[in-house]
Amino acid sequence: MNRKDSGIPGLDKVLGGGFPSETVVLVSGEAGSGKTLIGLNFILSGAIKGEKCCYLSLGEDLDELLRACDGIKPLKDIRGYLGKNLAIEHVVMGEDLGLDSFTKIFESYPLIDRLVIDNVNRLLIFAENQRDYRMRLSELVRYLKKRVKCTLLLCETNKGEIDTKNGEAFECDGVLHSSFMEFEEKPRRIMEVHKLRYSSFEPKIPHEFVICADGLSVTETLIL
Ligand SMILES: Nc1ncnc2c1ncn2[C@@H]1O[C@H](COP(=O)(O)OP(=O)(O)O)[C@@H](O)[C@H]1O
Ligand SMILES: [Mg+2]
Repeated sequence: MNRKDSGIPGLDKVLGGGFPSETVVLVSGEAGSGKTLIGLNFILSGAIKGEKCCYLSLGEDLDELLRACDGIKPLKDIRGYLGKNLAIEHVVMGEDLGLDSFTKIFESYPLIDRLVIDNVNRLLIFAENQRDYRMRLSELVRYLKKRVKCTLLLCETNKGEIDTKNGEAFECDGVLHSSFMEFEEKPRRIMEVHKLRYSSFEPKIPHEFVICADGLSVTETLIL
């Protein structure tokens, strides 16, 4: 099966080789659990391979995202692909851009290889109500599967929850969840795969997820 790597070799192993093509995968987790960095790492890995990649940020602007990249050695390379085969777009939702017009963008979106939308919580803010959000989300996922080889939808969640309880995990083909776990009296980041269509993986096993200046890594199962 054709797959897109995450840019983190340990995570690709956990995923059975990466994210399957023609899928939309939810990357959920608490604030600070590493979703944005996972997203940036994913598009950089595609850009290095010459793929067409786009990061749509509904929150942080370009400067803020590049500043985050500067703290992580391998991510510094993102700057070199900007304006070539990698785009980082800061999209401000509000009066001129509602959830309906945002979704419509993707109806006729150019065909690209990788997309990250950071994050769906912003879309929820601009929905008329929960039903409207759920319908638009479902429509968005449908369009994305046609226009983009692999999309990561980032989603901020409360501790112990895998989505905002508005159907994100249900609508997406996969759910990757990062959180914090106390281990030897120290909080550590962990990553769990809750769902991934067309893949064989061990569900809900906590894998250690490390963010440091040398890069992102996912290691073997934590022994609890
Ligand atoms: N160079 C670094 N070394 C260690 N940790 C870092 C570094 N850069 C960022 N981080 C950690 O990553 C976190 C930010 O991750 P981020 O992807 O923005 O989280 P999220 O998008 O889930 O809120 C920071 O709070 C910080 O703890
Ligand atoms: Mg973030």
